[in-house]
Amino acid sequence: MYRVKVPATTANLGPGFDILGMALDLYNIIEVKETDRGLNIDIEGLGAKELPTDKSNLVYQTMDYLFDKADYRPAGLDIKLINQIPIARGLGSSATIIVGGLVLANTLAGTPFSNDQLLNFAAEIEGHPDNVAPALLGGVVISVITDQEEIIYKKIKAPELKTVVGIPDFKLSTTEAREVLPAQVTFNDAVFNCSRVGLLVSAFMTEDYDLLATCFEDRLHQSYRQDLVPGMGEVIKEAKDDGALAIALSGAGPSIVALTLENEVEVGETIVRVFAQHGIKANYKVAEPNSTGVIVENL
Ligand code: HSE
Repeated sequence: MYRVKVPATTANLGPGFDILGMALDLYNIIEVKETDRGLNIDIEGLGAKELPTDKSNLVYQTMDYLFDKADYRPAGLDIKLINQIPIARGLGSSATIIVGGLVLANTLAGTPFSNDQLLNFAAEIEGHPDNVAPALLGGVVISVITDQEEIIYKKIKAPELKTVVGIPDFKLSTTEAREVLPAQVTFNDAVFNCSRVGLLVSAFMTEDYDLLATCFEDRLHQSYRQDLVPGMGEVIKEAKDDGALAIALSGAGPSIVALTLENEVEVGETIVRVFAQHGIKANYKVAEPNSTGVIVENL
């Protein structure tokens, strides 16, 4: 039997829409065993009652995608998902399933594909690379899609900071959160984000955390998504006042991610309190960046 442990991710990191993401030490676990026939999927933890356990499950779909490419057909599969990452909250839960499914299927098929190829497959399935890249590789990953649709990436060390993730008690699908984005943005807004992405990568690399508040500013997606996450603007403002170094919508939301050197409890409690003032129940988790990415074990 093989088991993968795949980290949650927080994508965008403010201005890095679809290109930046960071892995967190919060995990989904997937186990798989080849059998003589049939498909059996067991789900434990979050989403156990709502996720499908037939061939329409994302983990099966993903493994099937890779088996097709590898021309490998197991007779049957026993799959177990142990879900600890909240679903549809902007913490990369679907990316963990895609990355975990690809890594497991690749392992069963005799490892015909490299990690770089797996990253390209994962981004094709997910539609953008910013969650799947750090889920696979760990750390902070900057991804670029070339005109030939190939991904070029660079992993940099994650900052030595804590993250506070404020998780509202409602789901927001990435599809819905992308539908509110404009087809075009102004030249000024594009320049605004480019400048902050450049500075953010440099701030992480030089550990110049005083720059982070400016680096997390964004004009490409967050303001368009505000109505989907009641209280978001105020949560961000008050958490900053409480000492968060930087704070932004996590991925497509609705979770909010703050980077902190200290005060993580105050920042977490503020996020929960301000969401509550807007009628939104929320909880918070303190997580550290994960530096390894997916880990596969042969049990
Ligand atoms: N970059 C994507 C978005 C992340 O913001 O839509 C989705 O998880």
